[in-house]
Amino acid sequence: MESLAAEHAKELFGARHAYVQPHSGIDANLVAFWAVLGARVEVPFLEKTGVRQINDLTDADWAELRQAFGNQRMLGMSLDAGGHLTHGFRPNISGKMFDQRSYGTDPATGLIDYEALRAQAREFKPLIIVAGYSAYPRLVNFRIMREIADEVGATLMVDMAHFAGLVAGKVLTGDFDPVPHAQIVTTTTHKSLRGPRGGMVLCDDSLKDQVDRGCPMVLGGPLPHVMAAKAVALAEARQESFRDYAQRIVDNSRALAEGLMRRGATLVTGGTDNHLNLIDVASSYGLTGRQAEAALLESGIVTNRNAIPADPNGAWYTSGIRIGTPALTTRGLGTAEMDEVAGLIDRVLTTTEAGTTKSGAPSKAQHVLDAKIADEISHRATDLVAGFPLYPEIDLG
Ligand SMILES: Cc1ncc(COP(=O)(O)O)c(C=O)c1O
Repeated sequence: MESLAAEHAKELFGARHAYVQPHSGIDANLVAFWAVLGARVEVPFLEKTGVRQINDLTDADWAELRQAFGNQRMLGMSLDAGGHLTHGFRPNISGKMFDQRSYGTDPATGLIDYEALRAQAREFKPLIIVAGYSAYPRLVNFRIMREIADEVGATLMVDMAHFAGLVAGKVLTGDFDPVPHAQIVTTTTHKSLRGPRGGMVLCDDSLKDQVDRGCPMVLGGPLPHVMAAKAVALAEARQESFRDYAQRIVDNSRALAEGLMRRGATLVTGGTDNHLNLIDVASSYGLTGRQAEAALLESGIVTNRNAIPADPNGAWYTSGIRIGTPALTTRGLGTAEMDEVAGLIDRVLTTTEAGTTKSGAPSKAQHVLDAKIADEISHRATDLVAGFPLYPEIDLG
């Protein structure tokens, strides 16, 4: 089962090697970090000390190697620019393992500034540069990222958890396909790749032996039922229809962006090139992300609050709402429906006001929304998706 899933992954992404055991995205990233540490810290140390494996090291050498593991640097995208906690941030184990610095985005355009990143990499000299994101609505040029990594002697790792489906569906190709450019690529299998909850690592030959040590290095025993589901998802993603799906995800995302902006919303970076939109609800509607998220939920629309670059409301209340189009696209909604979705979201947010605390002070958490409007939007949202049932062929009686 495992080799079948791995073969599908290799064929689908054109990767030299695939490791399909990780139980989640976090685990896949941990496997990748330890693969790089193994290849670039442990192996040279063993060569230097002239022993074959770590159990043969003296206690003093072992202590030195353990210190060396903890002294490595990582450069990853900042959280408010769209990076992920697992890219070296303190609340995650990656931040406790690595000395991390973040690259952000250009304050004027909201886009990655590759020359600023290059300058930072030259100065910081990280062991690993992590590319990839959870909330960046544009393309990333992985050819340039690799060029920068090579220049400073770093390993380029790309976490494509969010956009793996767009890579699989050949919407992201050339400079925007991470697989030919990065030494190691990680992903979840449950986001745009549309498979079971899980993770996966792809890599070139230089890291494959280390990657295969994922279990028992950082992973518990394998989950064969999930690997079977990964094999199914990867086989589905190799079909022509998946390319059409991936393209429709992006068409829908653009339609949603246009619908929102036409109605007056401000989007981070002024639009989207991928599967996600990031609405700046603070400047568009005078709300925090938390208020907007709650008002939309009350109206039957599930979204996710998210920080925006240099967020004035911080990482908890936030100023953004992040919306992805893969799920609605799977149901069959198209660009016309996305415009209607934009209309529903805009109606909720224009009629919602920031609330107050019990003592009457302005609140970043409370909101005020007329229950009649919430009810009306909720009915319309329910009707809209009911027109696109998930499994029309299954009669639930
Ligand atoms: C870029 C990125 N990497 C890793 C993860 C973690 O995935 P998981 O929840 O499967 O551990 C996420 C999840 O949100 C993500 O967006």
